[in-house]
Amino acid sequence: MKIFIDTANLDMIKEINSWGILDGVTTNPSLIAKEGTDTRTRVKEIAKIVDVPISAEAMSLDSEGMIKEGRELASIHENINVKLPMCVEALKATKVLSGEGIDVNMTLIFSAQQALLAAKAGARYVSPFVGRLDDIGQQGMEVLGQVVGVFFNYGFGTEVIAASIRNPIHVLDAAAMGCDIATIPYNILLQMVSHPKTDEGIQNFIKDYEKSKKK
Ligand code: E4P
Repeated sequence: MKIFIDTANLDMIKEINSWGILDGVTTNPSLIAKEGTDTRTRVKEIAKIVDVPISAEAMSLDSEGMIKEGRELASIHENINVKLPMCVEALKATKVLSGEGIDVNMTLIFSAQQALLAAKAGARYVSPFVGRLDDIGQQGMEVLGQVVGVFFNYGFGTEVIAASIRNPIHVLDAAAMGCDIATIPYNILLQMVSHPKTDEGIQNFIKDYEKSKKK
């Protein structure tokens, strides 16, 4: 499974890239606002520090605007793909942008039906939001599984990004079902590294090593 980081923070991106596990970066307007910058500036900066796909979200709500913004964002760097929010206008824009070789990440996906349409229109990625479905009492993982299953049935080239990840179990479940990608917040990547038994084991080995040195 590919691992993307879900952040617009440069230090976090640099750190996770240094682990040797980074396959991509997703941003969104809220993550960009948290950094006190704008999408164009930030994705340009990200593209300078990592050589992986980077999602940049277009803010237009009509297809013409989305196409224009999509072309502008994609022209910043060859690694940039355009995030569009699932709707009829985004489907139209996806058809045009994908026809021009510009990758689209269809975001705010909450059902397999939406994902199916996005794939048919030519999206390179679809992003089902697992955590936000859980938040409203629905089974986010179940929807993700439906998307993965539908795409498998028809051999769609569109990759599924497990998004709105809230804990390491979400990552595990996504990997177990064969989801192509998970976009993971920094704090959850940190949680995935640690295990109390690993920490305890390291401490014990150090203690024993120190003892054996003294002999
Ligand atoms: C995906 O690309 C989104 O940026 C993200 O996963 C949304 O997650 P949230 O529900 O935690 O805001």
